[in-house]
Amino acid sequence: MYVVVHILSILFYLLGESLSEPSNKKFPENFQFGVATAAYQIEGGWADDGKGVNIWDQLAHTHPEKIANNASGDVACDSYHRYMEDVEMLTNLGVNFYRLSLSWSRILPTGYTNQINEAGVEYYKNLFSALKENGIEPFVTLYHWDLPEPLQEIGGWPNPLLADIFADYARTVFSLFGDDVKNWMTFNEPKQTCLAGYGVGTLAPSISSSGIGDYQCAHTLIKAHAKAYHIYDEEFRPTQNGRVSIVVDTTWYEPASDSDEDKEAAERKIQFNYGWYANPIYHPDGNYPQVMIDRVADRSQKEGFPKSRLPEFSAEEIDYIKGTFDFLALNTYTTELAKWTNDYEIGTPSYDADVSVSTYQDTSYNSSAAGWRVIPWGMRRVLNWIDQAYDHPEIVITENGYADDGRLTDENRIIYYAEYLTNVLEAIFEDGVNVTGYAAWSLMDNFEWTSGYTVKFGLYQVDFDNPNRTRTIKSSAIYYKNVIANKCLVNTCEE
Ligand code: NOJ
Repeated sequence: MYVVVHILSILFYLLGESLSEPSNKKFPENFQFGVATAAYQIEGGWADDGKGVNIWDQLAHTHPEKIANNASGDVACDSYHRYMEDVEMLTNLGVNFYRLSLSWSRILPTGYTNQINEAGVEYYKNLFSALKENGIEPFVTLYHWDLPEPLQEIGGWPNPLLADIFADYARTVFSLFGDDVKNWMTFNEPKQTCLAGYGVGTLAPSISSSGIGDYQCAHTLIKAHAKAYHIYDEEFRPTQNGRVSIVVDTTWYEPASDSDEDKEAAERKIQFNYGWYANPIYHPDGNYPQVMIDRVADRSQKEGFPKSRLPEFSAEEIDYIKGTFDFLALNTYTTELAKWTNDYEIGTPSYDADVSVSTYQDTSYNSSAAGWRVIPWGMRRVLNWIDQAYDHPEIVITENGYADDGRLTDENRIIYYAEYLTNVLEAIFEDGVNVTGYAAWSLMDNFEWTSGYTVKFGLYQVDFDNPNRTRTIKSSAIYYKNVIANKCLVNTCEE
């Protein structure tokens, strides 16, 4: 510990003004630390033991040029075969919880519940029992971007039928694994699924339908979440006593200046970006943010559409969806500046035109290999914004982390964690925000979607050239292990 903290002080000294000393406050006694991964990014075994094809298998195999170095998750970290090594790493870190996702098509090869793949079920059962033996709580995401291909063939998330199909899948996994899993998350980062998957087409299934497909996707997905929540509530909670949420991500949008226009622009941007999913579920009144409803309706009308491109929830649906969470789950990594701009001209519909806010990064801050600026105070601001907007919910940070080239001596990652966690402590102690847990992304280097293996977020390095996918501990893992053990970011904390 001493060595790591000492290195940390030298680094802070060298890096100067933009960084401050990490907090010496202790995390609350019941604060939970974890790490996160996702099925397609680590499991590999893409066609093993009866697993079906999903949209990422499909994209990687049919459009390899869309992924850096034509990479795929066919083998990834090979966790399907090496999960016991992952459990050893988790145990060494001393995490309280492990956030992972289920591969839908490993459990239900066609996506439908008529055919259950026993080998897939067995894999997760073994993993959960190994976690249990080591006192590690699983936090399980049902959907981390890997839709079974047959469901894409009927249109994917813009098809409203998927809400019921997802609900059936949710019921199946609650019943299969609910004795072991007490923390469920229905979806991970739905904005990426919809905006990138069906809007701009930068992630699987790579469909470009901005301002239409993305809104339809979100509409189905939010209903799917609510159905899964109610199924848990009515059929499983009484005996299983767990919790259900949805992971919504956001960048923090800081007004580019003190002007009222820029403040309005920043607020509008966060409503379109985060409120789109968060409002219907977390806000006491439910529904999409009013600014979104008004702007999309207005632009749709000017574009000649007979009704708004943003689908409408009925009053019953609003009631059914709102409040479908037991805690709020947040992924956040960076901050951007938001500047007021004239509304984009009426023309081809697009989500960006609906928002009409210009956003950019402040280049005076260091960047990570993912191209995101390291701006730790954004963490405190986004936590405060959420606390106020959604009536002081319990918040679990389900992802936060730093990307580099995969080096073992990863001081910048240590600084990132120390600084972002300092801001979490400030949000808790100075501002009274109810943050109860934090997961570092990621346990180990893994398949970073269209960046393939070129961008590394891991606390452990993985050798992707070695068939054994050898895992090696990095300096940041040693630092994080000490943070967890002492609930403290520095050498000695105030008691
Ligand atoms: C968001 C996603 O949930 C995860 O899959 C991704 O690898 C990380 N953040 C880093 O980009």
